[in-house]
Amino acid sequence: RATGDLAGRRVVVSAGGTREPLDPVRFLGNRSSGKQGIAIAEAARARGAEVTLVAANLEVPRPEGCDVREVSTALELQRELVDAAAGADVVVMAAAVADYRPAAVSEQKIKKDASDSGLTLELVRNPDILAGLGAAPHDGTLLVGFAAETESDEERLLELGRGKRRAKGADLLVVNRVGWSEGFAADDNRVVVIGPDDAVVTQAHGSKASVADAILDVVVSKLNPAAHA
Ligand code: C5P
Repeated sequence: RATGDLAGRRVVVSAGGTREPLDPVRFLGNRSSGKQGIAIAEAARARGAEVTLVAANLEVPRPEGCDVREVSTALELQRELVDAAAGADVVVMAAAVADYRPAAVSEQKIKKDASDSGLTLELVRNPDILAGLGAAPHDGTLLVGFAAETESDEERLLELGRGKRRAKGADLLVVNRVGWSEGFAADDNRVVVIGPDDAVVTQAHGSKASVADAILDVVVSKLNPAAHA
């Protein structure tokens, strides 16, 4: 594998999981650790790219040598990502973005009432950041999305991935199975990459670092089609 095959390229990676505040001390979040996104940022850096990492609540150390932009909510992530994506060669949306956020953020800690038996939260939709990039003009920017799914059926997983790639206008879609103990916080990962024609371009299984390199091999082949024909 050629180190330096991303030299001169600008790669933007989002990683981690957004947190949507309910009040000053509580949030709605998810189990994404940010490990796979960080592995992609590190691998891209090692292959010579200039890397911007949009980091949402990472549970792991930030990689060296990347321009790191810390965000917390989906709206913050959108602002930084859209800014960084302008003119980038590659955008990898590895972050787990909350689909919904609380309709209102309470200024004070929400208190329980002695008489209540429950609490109903009103949520509103967050923008789909990847779909927004896919729908806007983005000539020269390769868009890579992720689909973290809990389905165990392989065919069903692929179908979900294909549908998501088309719906979001991504060039590549990386599907991985997640669950209570798989995917998110784990050190190993297993992914299938779906390409522009809906075919499986590659499959990878192993450390998040080796999976990152397998994904970047596909990215490089799409950036330099002639060299890989
Ligand atoms: O729809 P779903 O969340 O499964 O799609 C996953 C892909 O879409 C990931 O690449 C994720 O980063 C991106 N996404 C996004 N904005 C959202 C939700 C997901 O960019 N609001």
